[in-house]
Amino acid sequence: MLATFLGLLLALPATVHPAPVQQPAVPALVPQPVSLSRYKEPDFELKASTRILVPPKDAGALQAAGALVSWLVPSTGMVLGTEEGTERVKGSILFTREKADPSLGSEGYVLEVNTDSVLIRAGGDAGLYYAAQTLRQLFPPEIFARTPQKDVEWKAPALFIRDQPRFPWRGWMLDVSRHFFTKDEVKRCIDQLAAHKINTFHWHIVDDHGWRIAIAKYPRLTEIGAWRSATGFGLDPADSTTYDKDGRYGGFYTQEEVREVVSYAAARHITVVPEIEMPGHSIAALAAHPEFSCTGGPFDRDVPAGVHAGIYCPGNEATFEFLENVLTEIFELFPSTFIHLGGDEVPREEWKKCAKCRARMANEQLADVEQLQSWFLKRVERFVNAKGRRVIGWDEILEGGLAPNAAVMSWRGTSGGLAAASAGHDVVMSPNAELYLDHYQARSGEPKAIGGYSPIDEVYLYEPIPEGLAADKQRHVLGAQGNLWSEYIPNARQVEYMTWPRECAIAERTWSPRDTRDLTNFLARMEVHSRRLEWMGVNYRPMAPAALDTLLQWTAAGTSLQLSFRPPFAGAQVRYTLDGSEPTMDSARGDGPTPLPSGPVWIKARVFRSNSRESFRTEALALPGPMLVSASHTRGLERAFDGDENTSAVSNASLVAGDYLRLQLAGARALSSLEILSGDAEQAADFPQAAVVEISPDGVNFQTLAEVSGERIAVDLSGRTITALRVRITRSQDRWWRIREVRLK
Ligand code: ACM
Ligand code: ZN
Repeated sequence: MLATFLGLLLALPATVHPAPVQQPAVPALVPQPVSLSRYKEPDFELKASTRILVPPKDAGALQAAGALVSWLVPSTGMVLGTEEGTERVKGSILFTREKADPSLGSEGYVLEVNTDSVLIRAGGDAGLYYAAQTLRQLFPPEIFARTPQKDVEWKAPALFIRDQPRFPWRGWMLDVSRHFFTKDEVKRCIDQLAAHKINTFHWHIVDDHGWRIAIAKYPRLTEIGAWRSATGFGLDPADSTTYDKDGRYGGFYTQEEVREVVSYAAARHITVVPEIEMPGHSIAALAAHPEFSCTGGPFDRDVPAGVHAGIYCPGNEATFEFLENVLTEIFELFPSTFIHLGGDEVPREEWKKCAKCRARMANEQLADVEQLQSWFLKRVERFVNAKGRRVIGWDEILEGGLAPNAAVMSWRGTSGGLAAASAGHDVVMSPNAELYLDHYQARSGEPKAIGGYSPIDEVYLYEPIPEGLAADKQRHVLGAQGNLWSEYIPNARQVEYMTWPRECAIAERTWSPRDTRDLTNFLARMEVHSRRLEWMGVNYRPMAPAALDTLLQWTAAGTSLQLSFRPPFAGAQVRYTLDGSEPTMDSARGDGPTPLPSGPVWIKARVFRSNSRESFRTEALALPGPMLVSASHTRGLERAFDGDENTSAVSNASLVAGDYLRLQLAGARALSSLEILSGDAEQAADFPQAAVVEISPDGVNFQTLAEVSGERIAVDLSGRTITALRVRITRSQDRWWRIREVRLK
């Protein structure tokens, strides 16, 4: 079989993929604005005499101007004066609403920098603020420093920018239940988000492991529900700091603190969307109030990560009275239109056993517990709608029938978002494979994470409009967000490490026009932007290169393959080995075309940063053919291509959503079929239980071709022209993947 496969590919003509390293767009803005043109005139220079001018009696402009002044003080030492003014004069930065273009919306703006002055024009407060954020990025990265910087010329290039966001929901979620982060730590996150024009902070404020918001009517929620015995999740207790005097782990926000965070966010044009989980993920609430469960408890907050049977009893009227009372206090604290009600991962077995729940189902003529969950949410939705708010929930709320006005947050892949948007519901996309920020950022060398693998390039390449969504339904995609679940995030430094720079990619994909997607250009701009993060003191993860197979440049010449590497960012050095050893700074440099020996060969590469000791490792298997194969944490990949069904490659860990097997050809080819045999006699379950086959005409942009699972995956490729294929796991599973044979024809 291998011979047939190789024979086919060997007959292909040579293909060359020139991939010039793009220079960073100048200036390197993140997110990329809609349009930018440079003027041929000298830079604008910030001076202590520079005046900020705002229209009279314009609170929004004054707030944006105040923000700009406050950002400039620490690094430049200059405290710029703000005055009322409507005319653009020499040495000024003018904020104006005059002649603002209504088609730019409330968040759009125009920014014009000339040698003598700066003009910021926007109709909305947010637009004025975002223009100021963009202006800040036009100065040298040192402008973000928190201490005075000497010998820096505070100059911004002369240019014209017209800008507005692609999506109204540009989000980030923080789970403060699994680990607790203080009010001040959350405010610091908000500043970082605002610098990237993120406008929605989804505060996952209650879950099994802790109830973190004081509710006046039910003080036990925080007296009991906010505390557990230990840090948990197998982490070192020393990595966490939020213990009470008795050594219990936890914490909560007073209502005063919540108000402070909400108004701090509002001043930065960020809406805080609270999530009050129901009916599942409710152990912390039920530990305090077991009377609202089916079983009566008791409930233990020290449970491991996962899905637990601590769920509310919808058979009991008192449950709804409780939830409505809680929500009434939530409405008081959070002005956001959307209130997130969770709805994910509800183990509904309890309801089947509960007499009250069975009676409810009989009375309401509900056929099954799925319908009972749907009834539960619809009932709470009526209450939320009556108060003028809207419900959003995880995509499980589609099961058993979606509440009429509810919006859906699509996390189990994109199918929930596609279904809901197609039916006319608003959706926010946060598919776990691409946008879960608790996933690993590299395949090795990273701090303990929950699993998964979502490197920055995959985050960046994610397109929020699901494939197959009709054009007239696309407006229902409100946007996308990165979700940071905190089981393995014991402290605020780790929050930053997991969030940045991946949230930069989300900011860009939700703000910038679809057709600006260009990974190489983004990574180049991120080299500059990383320095901004550095000066801000953000504990960001240093930039990782794209997957090795996207760094490789191919030259297929007859039976052999020549390779060279494209440095993933300015100043990066790629070193590689072909003998299985770990690459070091002394290994061969991957900058010239190097012929590969024939036969399967492992290419191991390491990307070194010139300015630090950080390095990133990646590997792939080159097959004569020629084809490059890579797979998440898999050993013995060559055995999946040896024509022997009795030998196999093994994933070496249970599969998590986002894991993949990727096959990249040296050039686009018409292909007829893909077949993958998995498992074996003893390990029959070692196959993908939920995956998609994705194909790419260009090796960069992938589209889903089929949902697949099982011991034999067979996909008809119908002669499509393909450069790369990927089998991507869409749901985490307990089992490994034993790949016996892969056949591509
Ligand atoms: C989720 O990740 N359970 C929404
Ligand atoms: Zn019940």
